[in-house]
Amino acid sequence: MSSVEVRELRREDIPRLSEVLAQAFNTDPVLDWAMRPDGGRMGALRDMFRRGMLGALRYGEETTTKDLNACAIWAPPEALNEPHGPLDPIFRLPPIFGYSGLGRLRRMMTFFDACEAKRPRVPHQYLDFIGVHPSKQGQGYASALICHTLRSLDAEGTPAYLESSNPRNNPLYQRHGFEITDEIHLPDGPTLWCMWRDPKPRST
Ligand SMILES: CC(C)(COP(=O)(O)OP(=O)(O)OC[C@H]1O[C@@H](n2cnc3c(N)ncnc32)[C@H](O)[C@@H]1OP(=O)(O)O)[C@@H](O)C(=O)NCCC(=O)NCCS
Repeated sequence: MSSVEVRELRREDIPRLSEVLAQAFNTDPVLDWAMRPDGGRMGALRDMFRRGMLGALRYGEETTTKDLNACAIWAPPEALNEPHGPLDPIFRLPPIFGYSGLGRLRRMMTFFDACEAKRPRVPHQYLDFIGVHPSKQGQGYASALICHTLRSLDAEGTPAYLESSNPRNNPLYQRHGFEITDEIHLPDGPTLWCMWRDPKPRST
């Protein structure tokens, strides 16, 4: 039984959790390929996760741990179906440019577009990102966060989907019932694994 205590993420947690996620993803193979390679990388990572968490606050699917060393951001089916207006790329581009820098803008867009193209078109809960502070990895934090949300998804019969950006993570997701369904090969870059999980019927 995990001793990691999970709770809903609150707005005031975001500065600390942006730092946690920036540190966790600093060595991620996909972000290493797509994000700016210069001294602005850590600031860009913090900004990207801060925006991601702020944007997802209205979904109510963000969880963290009591000690604020980990968090998971899920997007529900309604969020994935939100229509994007014709001006959307104009509003998206400035922050994305900040994450990639000019030299890697094409890589960043390729990454986003490749993920979008493979995303299942049937309703599901999407694990947008999950990260644990490097000093706490391997201690059950991610498992506690994942189990917490999967319990609700199983109760309501909702499938789940994610892209794994590091082969080291695949066994973790497989242990929680995700199966590899496809791969995304970024041009001259790393691979992502598309993973799907059908809801499990309750045993009681
Ligand atoms: C991947 C990650 C979220 C796992 O969180 P965690 O709390 O360390 O995971 P748990 O302790 O619940 O489970 C351990 C499993 O996670 C996986 N894992 C991935 N990276 C790991 C790491 N650096 N240290 C320990 N386990 C890691 C392994 O499958 C491990 O199982 P094993 O011990 O049998 O090898 C975390 O290591 C992390 O933040 N990594 C960097 C960011 C990242 O890759 N996020 C996910 C993108 S898809």
